[in-house]
Amino acid sequence: MRNKVTVVGAGNVGATTAQRIFDKGYADVVLVDVVDGLPQGKALDMLEAGPVVKSDASVIGTNGYDETSDSDIVVVTSGIARKPGMSRDDLLLTNMKIVTDVVENAVSKSPNCILLIVTNPLDAMAQQALYVSGFSSHRVVGMAGILDTARFRSFIAAELNVSVEAISAWVLGGHGDTMVPVAGSTTVGGTPITKLIPVKRLNELIQRTKDGGAEIVGLLKTGSAYYAPSAAITQMVESILLDKKEILPCTAMLNGQYGINNLYVGVPVKLGSSGVEEIIEFALTDEEISALSKSADAVKELISIMDNSNK
Ligand code: NAI
Ligand code: 2OP
Repeated sequence: MRNKVTVVGAGNVGATTAQRIFDKGYADVVLVDVVDGLPQGKALDMLEAGPVVKSDASVIGTNGYDETSDSDIVVVTSGIARKPGMSRDDLLLTNMKIVTDVVENAVSKSPNCILLIVTNPLDAMAQQALYVSGFSSHRVVGMAGILDTARFRSFIAAELNVSVEAISAWVLGGHGDTMVPVAGSTTVGGTPITKLIPVKRLNELIQRTKDGGAEIVGLLKTGSAYYAPSAAITQMVESILLDKKEILPCTAMLNGQYGINNLYVGVPVKLGSSGVEEIIEFALTDEEISALSKSADAVKELISIMDNSNK
């Protein structure tokens, strides 16, 4: 029997994610959206690609939750996305209501699932999903770090004309302007990046990484990135379903690690069949620790706005 993955939100990120998972063939997919016909139409279109992409999995679309029962993973992408001039934080209160409603519905049908949160502002939405679901924190995880790190790796690969696979890098912290690309542990074929790219140029690549989401929004004009985000979500789904225990930058609840308490922030995580199996604590420089703590403060500010709106 195949695993079952529900993707809530049949927009750009959700539909592309459903397609990537369906194409791999190891999980049945349920795509949910509030717009009548949208998830049904996209799911049917994906299903009809099955003979070509050689997938025997099922994929169905729905406007309700009955079909999502007993999902192993529920990916939450529902919500509004950024338009030019908007920050991820501008989405906070609208998306908080959407995520609350979606998580309540999803966990009532799949009480044993792992929740994989994508909706922005990501770290705050993961915290909200934990609160609403009442799950243990290892079963609520957010996607952002793989995307931010993939952007950093792409820029370095282009700069040095080497394979993306040669680059080991980490972008930690909140998924916002204060994210922390960790230059100190970035290597290219084992050589520290600082020996290969002059500091001034490296700082430009770091800034481009931090602005990576806005760069795409500026080009698309009507929405935000989805190809790289859906690839990142699929890597997390695969690590969980196949119990690969990959060490990946993910948004997870910290309880003292990196000096941060009771907060979702992007850190290296061991991701396996039970979700977040371990938070890995890297040796960071004082400067990196302080940047991570500043990033955590930015997430805390969003949480306090959500708390006040709940009063
Ligand atoms: P989109 O606008 O293309 O799709 C969002 C979908 O959610 C729409 O189809 C909408 O009808 C649906 N939706 C709204 N309320 C719903 C509800 N209550 N139940 C079910 N579906 C509902 O947006 P896109 O580009 O797919 O982005 C989705 C979210 O993901 C945004 O908040 C965006 O900022 C975020 N995002 C986060 C990333 C990350 O790294 N964490 C990366 C890319 C996007
Ligand atoms: C991004 O970084 C929108 O958060 C999304 O592209």
